[in-house]
This record gives sequence, C-alpha cells and structure tokens, in this order.
Amino acid sequence: MAERILKYLSENSDVSTLKLAEIFNEGHQKVIGALKSIQANGELVIVEPVSEKNVELTDEGKFVVNQGSHEAVLYNSVPQDGISQAELMKLPNAKVGFSKAMSNGWVLVDKSVNPPLVKRKVPQIKDMVQEHLKLIDAGKYKDVSDKDKADYKKRKLIQESIIKSFLLKKGPEFSLTLNKLETDLTTDMLLSGSWKNLKFKDYNFEALGAPPSSGFLHPLLKVRSEFRQIFLEMGFNEMPTNNYVENSFWNFDALFQPQQHPARDAHDTFFVSFPQYSHTFPEEYLERVKNVHSKGGYGSQGYGYNWQYNEAQKNLLRTHTTAVSARMLYKAAQEKEFAPIKLFSIDKVFRNETLDATHLAEFHQVEGVIADYHLSLGDLIGVFTEFFRKLGITELEFKPAYNPYTEPSMEIFCFHPGLKKWIEIGNSGIFRPEMLLPMGLPQGITVIAWGLSLERPTMIKYGFNNIRDLVGPKVDLDMVQKSPICRLNK
Ligand code: PHE
Repeated sequence: MAERILKYLSENSDVSTLKLAEIFNEGHQKVIGALKSIQANGELVIVEPVSEKNVELTDEGKFVVNQGSHEAVLYNSVPQDGISQAELMKLPNAKVGFSKAMSNGWVLVDKSVNPPLVKRKVPQIKDMVQEHLKLIDAGKYKDVSDKDKADYKKRKLIQESIIKSFLLKKGPEFSLTLNKLETDLTTDMLLSGSWKNLKFKDYNFEALGAPPSSGFLHPLLKVRSEFRQIFLEMGFNEMPTNNYVENSFWNFDALFQPQQHPARDAHDTFFVSFPQYSHTFPEEYLERVKNVHSKGGYGSQGYGYNWQYNEAQKNLLRTHTTAVSARMLYKAAQEKEFAPIKLFSIDKVFRNETLDATHLAEFHQVEGVIADYHLSLGDLIGVFTEFFRKLGITELEFKPAYNPYTEPSMEIFCFHPGLKKWIEIGNSGIFRPEMLLPMGLPQGITVIAWGLSLERPTMIKYGFNNIRDLVGPKVDLDMVQKSPICRLNK
C-alpha cells in the first residue's frame, strides 16, 4: 500500500487520502496506516491535514429516498373523494405527514360533512424533500440550500459529521521505495562508519510499554498475614521490630541471661564487628540489671558473678524478638500508671546455626506477650488454647523447659495429624521477677509470653520437607507464583 501511494504521487502532483482510498478501493484507515509508515522513513511526502464537513442520510432519510417524504406518502393515500381523518391517521408517520401536507397546501379538511373528510387540495405535487435527499445521498449536498439542509437536519433526515483526511504532496526526500529503517545502533556501524548513511527509526514516545509482570507474595508472607490476623482478632498490638541489629544488653542482659551463658558465645550468635559496641543505655536501669546479675535483689540471690559493662555493649544480630519485648516492657514500666498490654511481633532473628534441612541462620519468630495483674500459668495455657485453636490446632501438650528469663517455662507440642506424631512448635513461660522488677514494673504484675517459628508451620502448611526449598537461592520462583493463599483450617 505504501509503495502504491508513492507510485501514485510520482505521477500526480497531489492527492487526498480519501481519494486514494476510493482509487485503491480500500478503507481510509488502511491508507492512513500506510501513510504513517511512509512518514517514519523521513520526509518522503508532505502531509497536510484537512477536515471536511460531510452530510449523510439518517435511516429515516434513507426511507424518504426510497418511499417519498411522509407528506407525499400521506397525499398519495388520500383518495379522490376524501378520507376520514381518523382513518388517515392510522397510516405510519401520518402525524408528521399530515401537518407538512397541510402547511404545503396539499390537502384540506372538509368540515361541511360529518365526520369531516380530508381531501386533496391540488391535483398533483412535487416531492422536493425526496429529491433533495437523493442529491445528498449522491454526495451532491452542495446543490441543496443551507436553509433546506437545516430543515432536514431538524427533521432528523440528515446528519453532519467531520471527516479528517490528509492532502499528500511529494516531499524533499521523495522516493518510490521505503528503506528498512535501523532500530539499533550497533558497534559494527560505529566501527565501519556506516551509521552516517543509515536511516534510523524514530523513537515512538507514544508507544505503550510492556506491562510489568506483577509481584507475588512468598508463602512465608502469606502465613505471616494469617498469624497477624489471629493476634489482631485477639486484641494484640504489633511491636516495632525494625532493628535487626541489637546489643547484648537488650538481647541478653535485660532478660537475666548471665554473661557466661553458652548462647552468648560466637558459636551461637552473630556479633557485629562494625560498629562493635553500643554506647547509650538507660543508666539507672542498666545499674539495676548489673546488680540483679551480680548481687541479686527483689528476693533473688542473682548469679553472683562480676558483670561487665563491656560485654553488654556488644552489638549483634538479634537472636530472638524477645529483645524487642524487653524494650517494650521497659517502656511500659516508665509510664506513670501501668496499663495492661498485649503485644505481638513477627519478624526475623539470626542464629549461628549449623545449616541443615530444617535450620537456617535466619528465620522468623512469632512472639506474643501479655502483661497484667494476677496472670497465672492457667492464663498462659488458656491463651494458647485459643491462639492455636484459631490456627486449627486443637491437641496441645506442654513440657517443662528452661529459659533464663522465664519461670516456669513450657515447650508447646501439638499433634500433627499428617505425621501422626507430637511435634514441638513453640516455647513459652512467665517472665522472671529478676527481669521485670529492675525495669520498674510494679509488683504483682505477671507477664506471660511465648515464641514460635514462622517457618515450621509454613513448611507443614505448604508441604516442604527442606527449608531450603522455602528460603534461599534454591527457591523455585514458580513455586512462589503458584502457591495458593494461606487458609488455616479453623
Ligand atoms: N525467646 C524464645 C526463643 O527464642 C521464645 C520465648 C519467648 C520463650 C517468650 C519464652 C517467652 O525460643
């Protein structure tokens, strides 16, 4: 098509795209499309936009061309001796036809008889409306006066539209063929210098970009949303966990974890070498922590060792989110009046573990904390029962355990119907007075807390045996895309 247009132009001085469409017997849009690719090749043609008013017939107008105007049809239906008006009005379009025929003086109403009769007033008529519409239909709308056209438009026999087209002339770079335009500037073109003679395709800034494929939520994030929902339903508030780097004071000392405890060894904890130490602590509180470790207090005999400030200063990647719980409890203790709190968090923790199918050096911890007056072990078990029931786990067992910061402590086991055995899912306890009282929390307040990993329920839920299929470089992205939303069986 593009080359046919060029050929036509080489033989004629100018042409409109509408004319070309007629000559080639093609749609106007197709001609415009071909013109666009000619224009992309440079100034082969000069293009001048033209808008023309076009007048065309409506469906009713087409009817008039075929059958005659409504008034003419009506006139022809009136017999020599006349017809009753009621009878005449049964004809289609009679209402318009009658009033036009009356005002044209074609018919009259004879009221001397009863009922009155409609009779022809003139022996013959000339249907100008039909003639004009025939002219318009043939494209000769200029032969019809503007006044008549306005009338036909009002009668909805014709309608006007604007036709946009282009007038084409030969341009300064006129040629009979289109060059293939280069889309890329290559190293070869630069080295050989051929780029100087090549024509490059213009950028199309109007083009729509390729739609980006959307992101997908990792199964861990889906299970996390479910856990979060459960905590929120139970009235818990989320703790701010946005600090992976913590210092030993909050991660261990504040939790009454002695400085010689094996967990504080580099074999179990990732210490941070830059910056190696923290320098700001709540001074009085730090003093009380030092005392409870070294000398005891609050009814406790302490550990009786020489507590080192330097050891508490050491920065590390937090080994549990209980460090965040400690900060939040300390903060609550600074309030004028203690108000009961229910807090939770779900975020990453880091441990210097030997990696295997179920252990990585980082994982997510789900943590819950409740502080109130007169809480007991029964409350702890009660809250678990509800929490795990919402997870779809109804068979729970508890086993005494040890944590430096809780007494009593309980490991939580649940019966896994798929594996048909009891598996450990979490750890819990009641925070020790040696942890809470130095913070400044009033006597008589009990804090119950528990923690579990997010990975373990996710692995069970999504059927992974190896944690490396869930986290890390070997994760199959297809799995991430295709894994369904998490719905815990409630
Ligand atoms: N911090 C414990 C852990 O890392 C979990 C825990 C939280 C235990 C709160 C008792 C109370 O396993």
